[in-house]
Amino acid sequence: MHTLAVARAVRGIEPLVAAEIRRAGLGVVRGVRHREVWFETADPGPELLGLRTADDVLLVAAVVEGIGRDREALGRLSGAARELDAESLTKLAHQITDRPHGVRGGGVEVSASFVGRRNYSRFDIEDAVGAELARPLGLPYHSRRDGRVPPEGSTAWRVTVEDEQAVIALRVPARPLHRRPYKTQSIPGTLHPPVAAAMAGLARLDRARTVLDPCCGAGTTLIEARALAPHARLIGFDHDPHNVHVSTANANRAAADANANANGNGARVTADAIAWGVADAGRIPLPDGSVDRVLVNPPWDRQVAPSGRLRRDPGRLWREIHRVLAVGGTVVALVPEAWRPPGFGVDRVIHLTLSGRHPVVTVLRRSAGRGRAD
Ligand SMILES: C[S@@+](CC[C@H](N)C(=O)[O-])C[C@H]1O[C@@H](n2cnc3c(N)ncnc32)[C@H](O)[C@@H]1O
Repeated sequence: MHTLAVARAVRGIEPLVAAEIRRAGLGVVRGVRHREVWFETADPGPELLGLRTADDVLLVAAVVEGIGRDREALGRLSGAARELDAESLTKLAHQITDRPHGVRGGGVEVSASFVGRRNYSRFDIEDAVGAELARPLGLPYHSRRDGRVPPEGSTAWRVTVEDEQAVIALRVPARPLHRRPYKTQSIPGTLHPPVAAAMAGLARLDRARTVLDPCCGAGTTLIEARALAPHARLIGFDHDPHNVHVSTANANRAAADANANANGNGARVTADAIAWGVADAGRIPLPDGSVDRVLVNPPWDRQVAPSGRLRRDPGRLWREIHRVLAVGGTVVALVPEAWRPPGFGVDRVIHLTLSGRHPVVTVLRRSAGRGRAD
């Protein structure tokens, strides 16, 4: 029997999530919608949890048509929730994640979202569906109304409504996929890991020898890159020594998790597989042409201000990247708006919606010309 699954994604990277699903052989992609990739999987297993560009992965329980803007839609939704087989789906999700408590642990929580104006709130949807899902399982339903936070360990359902169609789905992992266990420490302006994974994919790291992030922050880009480029030399610099410490701690945790999951099969990841250091991206301590990929999320002067040599002259970053990058080398950058620094050609531009902003992932190729505006 085939199971219909949905991968949730940051707006803009849905096609990259679809590509990852195909590449990893996780199933047949059936459709790409706003922030969602639908796919059919014959035998859903723990491989689903390895999706790196997706925010989350869910099993579809019901697709409900005729969900209009009036409150009678709530009755339709609770009717659909009453009819679906919550127990079998919950069992399947718990098998995939090998959760110890089985179907009976925790409680039930629901998180709803919709597109367009409606005469009901997300909490109305959540309560209409949640009570019906919880009843046959004999579990408490934990509402999110009035800012309440469901307890850890609850089985998490999601309802999305777009046009006249609602989807009721069950999250497979206990925590959303985008919450990486390695991010034990964070910093202001740190990158959303699935976006970092998408950037690493765009850089075609399978052919990379040396990958640099000159403003590495908490280390997200390179930690995500390591999964795709286990043999490349990975180098992360930041001007702030605290951030270098954070990157190192996060990378150590990621290496420990990778080794634990490998269970002795496959090569061990050593904690020092990425070299971290304190340096000013306005004077990168690497020789000319010594790098063939750059992944970077530079300080935008919003959450994080440029410091050091970039404070007076932010353009220095691009001149330095141009200098250390070999001709033909690739930069994948997350920047506030589409642009092309001197000395680079633009291969691809992807517009995202992220935390209410609209940044751009730009793939640049270093040309033979000079990296100066003159
Ligand atoms: C937007 S954050 C990067 C976030 C990072 N990608 C992550 O996932 O955590 C920008 C980073 O640039 C660093 N930075 C600012 N000025 C710098 C400079 N002159 N040289 C190197 N790093 C700098 C900041 O310390 C900050 O960590």
